[in-house]
Amino acid sequence: MQKNIIKIGIAGLGTVGAETFQYIQNHQAFLKSRTGKDLIVTAVSARDKQKYRHLHLNDVTWCDNPAEMALRDDVDLVIELMGGADGAAFDLIQNALSCGKPIITANKALISKHAQRIFEKVNADKIAFAFEASVAGGIPIIKTIREGFAGNKITSVYGILNGTCNYILTEMAQKNMPFATVLKDAQDKGYAEADPSFDIDGIDTAHKLSILSAIAFGHIPKLDEIEIQGIRAITDLDINYADQLGYSIKLLGIAEETTNGISQIVAPCMLPKTASLSSVHGVFNAVFIKGDYMGDSLSVGRGAGGKATTSAIIADLIDICRGHFIHPLGQITQVEAKTIFKPIHQRQGQYYIRLLVKDEIGVIAEISAVLRDHKISLKSIIQHYQTEKSDDTVPVVITTHETNYGDVRAALTALSSLPVVMKPPHMMHILDL
Ligand code: NAP
Ligand code: HSE
Repeated sequence: MQKNIIKIGIAGLGTVGAETFQYIQNHQAFLKSRTGKDLIVTAVSARDKQKYRHLHLNDVTWCDNPAEMALRDDVDLVIELMGGADGAAFDLIQNALSCGKPIITANKALISKHAQRIFEKVNADKIAFAFEASVAGGIPIIKTIREGFAGNKITSVYGILNGTCNYILTEMAQKNMPFATVLKDAQDKGYAEADPSFDIDGIDTAHKLSILSAIAFGHIPKLDEIEIQGIRAITDLDINYADQLGYSIKLLGIAEETTNGISQIVAPCMLPKTASLSSVHGVFNAVFIKGDYMGDSLSVGRGAGGKATTSAIIADLIDICRGHFIHPLGQITQVEAKTIFKPIHQRQGQYYIRLLVKDEIGVIAEISAVLRDHKISLKSIIQHYQTEKSDDTVPVVITTHETNYGDVRAALTALSSLPVVMKPPHMMHILDL
């Protein structure tokens, strides 16, 4: 940016917005040393003006309508930290784009939904649109893939991309804590989305995967191309069986290039305890990338929380003030509107299946027959007899050899309809990373 004083509007003063506001207020000299400019917050917006926020807001203008912030003469650059794919956040970004003002956002839901029109506009009008904070805040993963790995053909991306889920799975495994208690803890720490079902049902991971996959493979993010499974169905039984089998459980976003196109999956996966991603615990995120020249790369850092996310926002702010910005996907020519995606049903892999069955003669034979009929080869089967039982059911856990995902899905449907199977089966991918 040409000006020596950059006037900033921040919309959203929650976990991330409040931290970012304070950072800019408290790091004036530091930011000037990095950019050569004075960076001042001139306007803010949030839903409730009366809320006490521990912030010094006396010298800034409060905007009741966040979208109007972008139209103000005393706002040169907009930081959107309200969230939501549409509504106030979308209106603000639309206004900033129409005024040609640089935008920084952490809003992966909005990017995942509206990338095509936003990217076309910023590319045509040469507007800075920066979103490093939208994926794995403490890891500069967007810049890493788009700029650091720009010379590589990326073949696969595996990410632990949701801090809340990784925190829940870690606490369940290490401290035997119940799911609901850990989720509440993650919410109290500011990790969870406004609607925590976005975290635990895998939607937030899918938003982030769609962005990383778009940058890695050069296409427009498309949420409806991703097969999404969250962590809601994971129980302490799964955690214990995974442990016995030598695995940890991680919610992964996976994008892989194959001969037929790119397959994108969000699912809880079992990884060998020795895998590098297995040692990523708590709120930490990690992204494991394979490329043709750089080989394998693993980046690890905090994935959620006000400070880690602010770190990414400030990096974008410094970049824009220095005059550095490129096309959001790092493309020079027109981005492909459509890539052919391989149907996930053709994916080959190993699987974990947990069943709750009637404890009676012939049950294992019935289950085995279903798997045989779907061409699925068993690798192991565990049935733990419990001496103190409150009913006549027993959990059975199966792992398969390499098999077709479509066949596994069909087998699960067939197993669900057996009278001896008491609950819908739970399935997880087993990855050998
Ligand atoms: P948050 O704590 O819920 O804060 C949201 C802020 O936006 C609040 O200040 C709220 O006002 C304001 N707001 C919401 N709707 C508004 C509207 N219609 N008009 C005006 N103000 C509105 O959310 P957050 O955790 O900071 O997340 C903000 C964004 O960052 C989201 O896109 C999220 O996905 C993303 N993000 C969050 C994290 C994280 O760890 N939390 C990490 C990376 C990215 P009030 O304060 O008055 O309610
Ligand atoms: N709710 C998100 C998470 C915030 O837990 O990862 C960071 O994007």
